[in-house]
Amino acid sequence: MQAKQIKSALLMGALVHFYALTGISHAQSADATKLYHRGLAATCANCHGTDGKGVVDGGMPLINQLSSEQMLTQLKAFKSGAREGTIMPQLAKGYSDEQLEIIANQLGKK
Ligand code: HEC
Repeated sequence: MQAKQIKSALLMGALVHFYALTGISHAQSADATKLYHRGLAATCANCHGTDGKGVVDGGMPLINQLSSEQMLTQLKAFKSGAREGTIMPQLAKGYSDEQLEIIANQLGKK
């Protein structure tokens, strides 16, 4: 194969991939959204436990007793500096308000 042919073969391959990726059905994009939400919430698991179910007396505040609304209030307070802390003020600043909302909805007590 000549270089030109190889190039167009590569381009075809890339296009096929492109169409495969953009052809996601609604069901799959709903799954992707769910995955994104769970992924955001999982960033809290190192310290607060999986799904916010921490270890009692583990040295980290338990957040699984907070409602989504209470959690969001605390996260926004950390972000704005209204509430002080060792870790959370810096951490909360790393998320957009929309992301904090998603996380609070995901982890807050149902
Ligand atoms: C590196 C460890 C660490 C990570 C990661 C972490 N936290 Fe925290 N969290 C803490 C500590 C420590 C506190 C106590 C306040 C402080 O010192 O910052 C706290 C406090 C909190 C509180 C207040 C609890 C209360 O009783 O008022 C909430 C809510 C909270 N974290 C939610 C989260 C969420 C949501 C995430 C993920 C976006 C997260 N934390 C990630 C360590 C962590």
